[in-house]
Amino acid sequence: MSDFMGMKRFLALAAAAFLSLPLSTSAVAAQDGTPGAPGAGDPYFPDQGNGGYDAGHYDLRLDYETASGRLDATAAVTARATQALSRFDLDLAGTLTVRAVTVNGRPAAYAQQGSELVVTPARSLPEGRDFLVVVRYDGRPVHVVDPDGSVDGWIRTSDGVFNANEPQGAMTWYPGNHHMTDKATYRFTVTVPDTRVAVANGDLVARTSRAGRATYVWEAREPMASYLATVTIGKFALADARLGGYRVTTAVDPKLEAPGFAERHPPVLDYFSSLFGPYPFSSTGGIVDHAPEVGYALETQTRPLYPRAPSEALLAHELAHQWFGDSVTPALWRDIWLNEGFATYAEWLWLDKLGTRSLQASFDAAYAPPADDEFWQTPPADPGGPANLFHDPVYDRGAMTLHVLRREVGDDAFFTILRTWASEHKYGNADTAAFVALAERVSGRQLGTLFDTWLRKPGKPSL
Ligand code: ARG
Ligand code: ZN
Repeated sequence: MSDFMGMKRFLALAAAAFLSLPLSTSAVAAQDGTPGAPGAGDPYFPDQGNGGYDAGHYDLRLDYETASGRLDATAAVTARATQALSRFDLDLAGTLTVRAVTVNGRPAAYAQQGSELVVTPARSLPEGRDFLVVVRYDGRPVHVVDPDGSVDGWIRTSDGVFNANEPQGAMTWYPGNHHMTDKATYRFTVTVPDTRVAVANGDLVARTSRAGRATYVWEAREPMASYLATVTIGKFALADARLGGYRVTTAVDPKLEAPGFAERHPPVLDYFSSLFGPYPFSSTGGIVDHAPEVGYALETQTRPLYPRAPSEALLAHELAHQWFGDSVTPALWRDIWLNEGFATYAEWLWLDKLGTRSLQASFDAAYAPPADDEFWQTPPADPGGPANLFHDPVYDRGAMTLHVLRREVGDDAFFTILRTWASEHKYGNADTAAFVALAERVSGRQLGTLFDTWLRKPGKPSL
């Protein structure tokens, strides 16, 4: 929902305008707009996202056959042109086949080039114009393997799909503007064999069944980055209850034991609300789906996804991400410590509150590696590329940075900083520089050296 890297876009636009000059037949072509950029300009994933428009809402209709792995789908994307647009891209994996595209109800020309779906509307879109692009597509979605070797996207399981999309899996199952700076609301209408359940983000609004097929409708009412979307399918015990003032919707794979899973959420959310401000979403819960080949959990918005029943630490980690990562989202992938460092620190806070492990013990354990250990060579602010996004220092050294900041400014200022961060950037994007500026503003101190030492310089900081 937000614009991003105006300069980069301006340059791309200027270059495109310049390059197309000899080809255009008349001056009218320039008035008619220029192509949107094929990427959002993130150095870690240059092709991710697209320029020239801002997506506002996705209405996804997915019909999935679990036995064959076949998807038949329609994506209706409401967007606004942020430049006069002769054509634009959506990100969609080339393993899926597009059958038809319309823009504002009129058939549009399209081409699939790698993971870019290039759409040329019958008429150019003036800057500021709202438009609706509808893509009909089908095929067998397959996950991608990330630069760090982990599986990402539409990951098939023995009874359905484990669907986790950080950092780049969203393109494996629906067309969109898949950079985290373009947040949007969603509606998911998912039809599966009625022996299966389809779980997505937000509120469950309908469940119907007919002729052996069940349709689940979910609405994510608050803006969401596409890496946080999920449509996870399988045999699940689905529960939807009001607990302690929250709507808690959980789905648990009967192959796994997760006693009291739903009931474990309100105490964690209450504690984090008292520290970080109100829980930002209309519902909560989680999905526990047996997926032995997946080595991580994910903070899918409103409803984190776990490959096994979560420990208290992991549950707290993913719920803390709802404030830090989901509601306030980084502006670029290199700012990932704003997610993982914060969620790790929150995990330490929860274990301290439970009496399982003191905050100091968590800090000391993280600080323990000797100075020549590899651990200290990757500073968390810009971990050096997409293969290092989820390296330990991003989590642990990120969390240590917050603890050192707290020691420096005191508890009152520290928690004011966290609450202000969550409220000022609610449903938005922000980067490390904005966090440093906020910390200095609230505390009234110069913190450049502290942040440089902990976030940017290789080597073990002394205490
Ligand atoms: N953000 C997740 C967490 O809660 C980790 C995601 C890892 N993703 C991956 N493709 N390896 O820490
Ligand atoms: Zn995390």
